[in-house]
Amino acid sequence: MKKRKPLNKPALFLIFIISAFLVYQLMWALMKEFYRRSEQKVIFDVSGLKKLLFVNDKITQHLDYSVSKSLSVSYNRDLPDTRHSGCKSLLSNAKLQLPSVSIIITYQEIDISVLHRNIASVVHRSKPVNIKEIILIDDGSFDAQAGKLLQQVQGIKIIRNKSPKGRGVARAQGATVASGEVIVFIDSLSELNVDWLSPLLNRLTESPRSLVSPVFDVIDSDTFEYKPRLSIHKGGIDWSLQFQWIEISSKARSTAASEPLIPFKSPILPGAVFAVRRDFFNWLGKYDVSIGASGVEDIDLSLRAWLCGGKVEIVPCSRAGLIQTSKGQLGVKRVPFSSYLKGAKKVAELWLDDYKRFFYAVRPSARMQTLLNMTISRRLKEKNKCVGFKWFLSTVYPQLLPLVTDEIAFGVIRQQDVCVELDPGQMPLIAKPRPCTTGKDSQEWSWRKKGMIVSNGMCLTSDLGNMHGFVMVQFCQDLTSQAWYRLGLTIVHQESNFCLDSARGDVGLVISVCVQDSPTQTWHVSSETAGPPSPDRDFSFLEEKSQLEFF
Ligand SMILES: *[C@@H]1O[C@H](CO)[C@@H](O)[C@H](O)[C@H]1NC(C)=O
Repeated sequence: MKKRKPLNKPALFLIFIISAFLVYQLMWALMKEFYRRSEQKVIFDVSGLKKLLFVNDKITQHLDYSVSKSLSVSYNRDLPDTRHSGCKSLLSNAKLQLPSVSIIITYQEIDISVLHRNIASVVHRSKPVNIKEIILIDDGSFDAQAGKLLQQVQGIKIIRNKSPKGRGVARAQGATVASGEVIVFIDSLSELNVDWLSPLLNRLTESPRSLVSPVFDVIDSDTFEYKPRLSIHKGGIDWSLQFQWIEISSKARSTAASEPLIPFKSPILPGAVFAVRRDFFNWLGKYDVSIGASGVEDIDLSLRAWLCGGKVEIVPCSRAGLIQTSKGQLGVKRVPFSSYLKGAKKVAELWLDDYKRFFYAVRPSARMQTLLNMTISRRLKEKNKCVGFKWFLSTVYPQLLPLVTDEIAFGVIRQQDVCVELDPGQMPLIAKPRPCTTGKDSQEWSWRKKGMIVSNGMCLTSDLGNMHGFVMVQFCQDLTSQAWYRLGLTIVHQESNFCLDSARGDVGLVISVCVQDSPTQTWHVSSETAGPPSPDRDFSFLEEKSQLEFF
C-alpha cells in the first residue's frame, strides 16, 4: 500500500481559504438575522436617564416655562386621558397591522427635564405600536452634553447642529436618515397622551396621502398642569400667512360631536406633532429648507399637500399636550420677523397666485425683501401638477375671505402673452398692452361689482369725447366712464357699449365697436381660471406599498 503523500502547502492554503469563507458566510447570515430581530424589537428604556436630572446643575434661565416646576414634576407622570370614551373600543376593533415608525424630535434651547419627559411620553404611551427608532436633532442648543447622554439609549440617534438652523431644516435633516415607513415629527415642548400613535397610523393606512395631527391639549407653562382643551380647533392662516387656530363653529361642532371619533379636515397643519408616510413626504418634496427657519414651513407643507393631491387631517382619538407659553399662540414657534417675512414672501409667490396681493396689502414691507430662489419649488409644483389657490379657497378654506369683498374678478387681464398695464411713464396715465410679467403690480387689476377696474387705487377710464376712445387711468370717481362689464370674453365699456381693444397697442388701449370673436377684443382674467385638482397624477407608488410593506 502506497503511503499517501501529505498535502502540499498550496492545497492546505486553499482549504483554509474555502473554510474561512464558509465560516464568514455563516456568521454573516447569523448576524443579519440577529440584527433583523433586534431591530424589530428595540425596547426603549429611558428610565436610566433619570439620573440626568441630577447631574444637570445648570438651571436654565430665560426659557418660557418654569424650569424649577418642571424639575419637580415626574418624568413619567400619568396624564388625564382626554380622549372621547369611544376611542378605546374603536381602536381595539382596528387592525393593528401598522407600518414601522421613525420619530423625529427637534429641539433648540430646552431644559433637559422637559426633553426627558417628552421622550418618555413618546415611548411609554405609544403602545401597542413598536417604534423603530427615535432621531433627535439638537438644533444648536447650548448643552451638547444632554444629547450625548441620550445617545446611550438603544434606538436613539442624535444629530447635533453647532448653531441653530431652524425647525424645518432640522426636521428635514432627521427625515434624511429616517428609515421607517412613517415619520412622526414632534416638537420637544410636548407630552404625548395615552395610545397617541396607533390612531394616527390607522388613519394613514386608510388615507395614505394625508398629513395627520393629534388634537392638542394645553400644558400650563408655570404649573405644568395638563388641561384638556374642550373646544375643537383646526389650523388656519390669515392673509399675513401666520398660523391661526380656528374654533369649529357650534353648528359644525354639533355635527362633529355626533361623530367625535372621525378624523376631520384642517386647512393648515398644526405642525407641533404630525405623522406622514415617508414615501408621500418625499414625493411632496419634504420641507423646503430655504424657508425652514421662517415659521411658515408648515404652512408651505400644508398648501403643497392640499394643492397637489393630498390632505391635512386631525385625528381626534390621538391627543398631545403642548406647553402654552404666555407669549405667542399654542404650538407656534416664534422666529425673527425678517426670516418670517422672507419665507412668507416665497410661500405667497409660490402658492397664492393672484391672491398674493392680499398678502402684500397686509405685509407691504415684504415687497422690499429679495425673493428667495424659486427654481426648485416651481419645478416641483409643476411635476406634481398642483392646482391654483382659488380651488383651496373655495373647497378647503372658504372661511379665509378676500380683503376686498365687492370684487367680482381680479388678477392680470391677458390677451395671449400681453397684459393690460398701467403705464406710469406717461402723463396723463394711460393703459397699454405689455408683455405679461409675473409679480408686477401695475399689471394686477381688481374688478369691482359696480364695474370699476382698479390698479393701485386708479381706475380704467374712457369716453368717446375728450379721450377720443383712448383708455386712461384716472382716480376712481364712480363715473359711468369708469364702468365696465363682462360679455363673453370681451370687456365692454358701459357708457359707450364699445369693447376694450388692443388694435392700436403701440399707442395704447382703445375702445371700439364690438366685433364678434375679434382677437384684439378677447381678454382673459386670471381669477376666472382655476379648476379642481386633476385626477391624472401618478400615485401608484403609494397604492402598491400600502398593500405590501406593512408588517
Ligand atoms: C436658483 O436655483 C437653481 C437651481 O438650484 C440654480 O440653477 C440657479 O442658478 C439659482 N438662481 C439664482 C439666481 O441663484
